[in-house]
Amino acid sequence: MRRYLRVVVLCVACGFCSLLYAFSQLAVSLEEGAGGGGGKPQAAVASWLAGGGRGAVRGAGVAGPAAHPGGSDRCKDFSLCYWNPYWMLPSDVCGMNCFWEAAFRYSLKIQPVEKMHLAVVACGERLEETMTMLKSAIIFSIKPLQFHIFAEDQLHHSFKGRLDNWSFLQTFNYTLYPITFPSENAAEWKKLFKPCASQRLFLPLILKEIDSLLYVDTDILFLRPVDDIWSLLKKFNSTQIAAMAPEHEEPRIGWYNRFARHPYYGKTGVNSGVMLMNMTRMRRKYFKNDMTTVRLQWGDILMPLLKKYKLNITWGDQDLLNIMFFHNPESLFVFPCQWNYRPDHCIYGSNCQEAEEEGIFILHGNRGVYHDDKQPAFRAVYEALRNCSFEDDNIRSLLKPLELELQKTVHTYCGKIYKIFIKQLAKSVRDRYARSPKEK
Ligand SMILES: *[C@@H]1O[C@H](CO)[C@@H](O)[C@H](O)[C@H]1NC(C)=O
Ligand SMILES: *[C@@H]1O[C@H](CO)[C@@H](O)[C@H](O)[C@H]1NC(C)=O
Ligand SMILES: *[C@@H]1O[C@H](CO)[C@@H](O)[C@H](O)[C@H]1NC(C)=O
Ligand SMILES: *[C@@H]1O[C@H](CO)[C@@H](O)[C@H](O)[C@H]1NC(C)=O
Ligand SMILES: *[C@@H]1O[C@H](CO)[C@@H](O)[C@H](O)[C@H]1NC(C)=O
Ligand SMILES: *[C@@H]1O[C@H](CO)[C@@H](O)[C@H](O)[C@H]1NC(C)=O
Repeated sequence: MRRYLRVVVLCVACGFCSLLYAFSQLAVSLEEGAGGGGGKPQAAVASWLAGGGRGAVRGAGVAGPAAHPGGSDRCKDFSLCYWNPYWMLPSDVCGMNCFWEAAFRYSLKIQPVEKMHLAVVACGERLEETMTMLKSAIIFSIKPLQFHIFAEDQLHHSFKGRLDNWSFLQTFNYTLYPITFPSENAAEWKKLFKPCASQRLFLPLILKEIDSLLYVDTDILFLRPVDDIWSLLKKFNSTQIAAMAPEHEEPRIGWYNRFARHPYYGKTGVNSGVMLMNMTRMRRKYFKNDMTTVRLQWGDILMPLLKKYKLNITWGDQDLLNIMFFHNPESLFVFPCQWNYRPDHCIYGSNCQEAEEEGIFILHGNRGVYHDDKQPAFRAVYEALRNCSFEDDNIRSLLKPLELELQKTVHTYCGKIYKIFIKQLAKSVRDRYARSPKEK
């Protein structure tokens, strides 16, 4: 009798197991169906980035299966859809049971993911430089990125070709725009301003649906994740709407305090090459100004401001921003110089103390220093990032040659402190590999 019972129990157990197996297969095949053809993700081939892609998408679930043809299913990537208990999974795989996960995945996907919006305006010969900037953003970032690229029409084709070639990464998305002005009085704007120079002022009016945006010049290089500067948005107090770095640390060589013929923010003005904006707040705010006694909204203030100051401004839109925040200083969040590190910070000796301590976070090679020999330290970092490609596993191997290259620049003031150029970069590279343990 007891033996008979044992056989029954065994049979029931076997039946239960095979039922579970059938369910798991069903779950997998359902997902493949939903995954839009779900071929093996190419990301698995692009060795060193595969991990980042996976990480970002996992944090996200992003826009559902349609947004990620090929799927980013970690279980499939690693062929782990067995009945592995957690403790039997390799240590570098997050311990989640595939069956369990499949059952809950659809509800998880509904959650919207915060995307980081990055805008750039590219005109003239700026294609290569812009692509290098975008590459540096993609390499280190964790959350998905949405690029808004404003470019002259003749550049659109090249941008599209180059960016579509990276689409296998699945960690970013992009939109190309022509250089545009708000439709009301567009003609008048075009007459007054060099179109490319002023485009960024209109971003809050053009990208009406977007809450927050990081605007950068084309000559920016991210040496740490965009996520880190993006997180400063959350540090804004209730009156702050935008964030920038000071134009100078050292007033004796400052430009605004010595030459400007218009008001400017703070002691030395601000630099608009890296500008974080809460555009929701910018669109809502009524700005104090020196043209009328009433406060004006962003869309109404630009034209009178330009008319009043057009003969006195030298650096175009950056000057207008300085005037605006001179009158509304409570609205600006000022971040330290290591988030917008320019040749001015080392050209006559180091004056950005935060960078000396923690390294450079965002490099800004203004005045063309990536392309001439005036500041070889800046150029070396640019070339190292320009040369590295998503296809080869060479992000780590970029560091050693870069350091050698930087050691050749010690005859310049910036080269003397070359260590601050790689301090954060080396850490970002380490962190990136730590996030994708597969490539260890
Ligand atoms: C990418 O952007 C396009 C529009 O520019 C949008 O339709 C699409 O859903 C986006 N994809 C993802 C993954 O966000
Ligand atoms: C895209 O990548 C392939 C292979 O890496 C390359 O041959 C091709 O020229 C690239 N296309 C563009 C537009 O860069
Ligand atoms: C422009 O500069 C001139 C000369 O410095 C000055 O007199 C004038 O007040 C300035 N205009 C404005 C609107 O500030
Ligand atoms: C921007 O400001 C609006 C209004 O205060 C707020 O709801 C939103 O969360 C802010 N965005 C970010 C990214 O902090
Ligand atoms: C927000 O910070 C700015 C700059 O530090 C300051 O001027 C402003 O008064 C602050 N606003 C509030 C509401 O505390
Ligand atoms: C980048 O590539 C160019 C040519 O492809 C080469 O001359 C240069 O030495 C490389 N620079 C670095 C830093 O690897």
